[in-house]
Amino acid sequence: MYSFFQKAILQWYFKTKRDLPWRTTTDPYSILVSEIMLQQTQVDRVIPKYLEFLKQFPNKETLAHSSPAEVLKYWKGLGFNKRALRLQEVCKTIVQKRNGVFPNTEKELLELKGIGSYTASAICSFSYNQDVVVLDTNIRRVFHRIFLGNKQEQNETLTKELKLLAEKILPHGQSRDWHNALMDLGATICTAQTPKCTQCPAQTFCSFTQIFEKASNEEKDKLLSLTRIKNKQGTFKDSNRYYRGRILDYLREHENVHLKILEKEFKKKYNKDINLILLDLEKDKLITLTPETISLPKN
Ligand code: ADE
Repeated sequence: MYSFFQKAILQWYFKTKRDLPWRTTTDPYSILVSEIMLQQTQVDRVIPKYLEFLKQFPNKETLAHSSPAEVLKYWKGLGFNKRALRLQEVCKTIVQKRNGVFPNTEKELLELKGIGSYTASAICSFSYNQDVVVLDTNIRRVFHRIFLGNKQEQNETLTKELKLLAEKILPHGQSRDWHNALMDLGATICTAQTPKCTQCPAQTFCSFTQIFEKASNEEKDKLLSLTRIKNKQGTFKDSNRYYRGRILDYLREHENVHLKILEKEFKKKYNKDINLILLDLEKDKLITLTPETISLPKN
């Protein structure tokens, strides 16, 4: 038996659900591709790239047997390019070390280097419809607001509490629809900046909306910041992300570029010294450096 809460959320979902291409498949490889792309890129930008990528690499075997340079070319526009190599590594491991059998438990998925707990749970839910808890930032925010309202807690304690809650509330046998519903709720109604509480199927039992609707504007800002994920301190990679992207874009268009030429180009165009960035890209295996040339990795 589902609770009133579960029914309200699922009914809302069946009426309003977003038409997203990864929702028309249960193929674990396609789900893996979508989840890795969606980790740091907005849904609207992912949709066309996901479709193009799957046309070019329709299964884990084609991806595993392609050159990293080719994979990186199809990742253009998505950013955070290390994800492309990580995705390919996962497929290579499955093809080469697991006889091409895609793992179907969270435990086995987590044994693959490159798959973290979020991705493992998402594959088990969206591909296999298993009764596992999926907690991304959107779903965390939805649960935090509905059940904990303005309660403030240390991050780890909060995660534990939200996981327990999520386990309790998961409608058995409906994991796929349930998590899609919660993602839709977080993306369209229970948004980080401007929650639309009056349109929410959970409004009658939401702890947050009761406080939020009565709050002054200043109090509203404070309440919203409670469920906002704090940014970590920027790293060298973060502060140079723009140039990393431009360097890889250049290499997507040109093969075996002379280092001196690339360095000059960036100095002229952006007044930027790129030698440290190149070393960092090499460390991430995103480029191959010889004493004189630079290219995308061939293998
Ligand atoms: N964000 C992360 N995974 C998603 C999914 N499967 N659908 C929509 N948004 C997402």
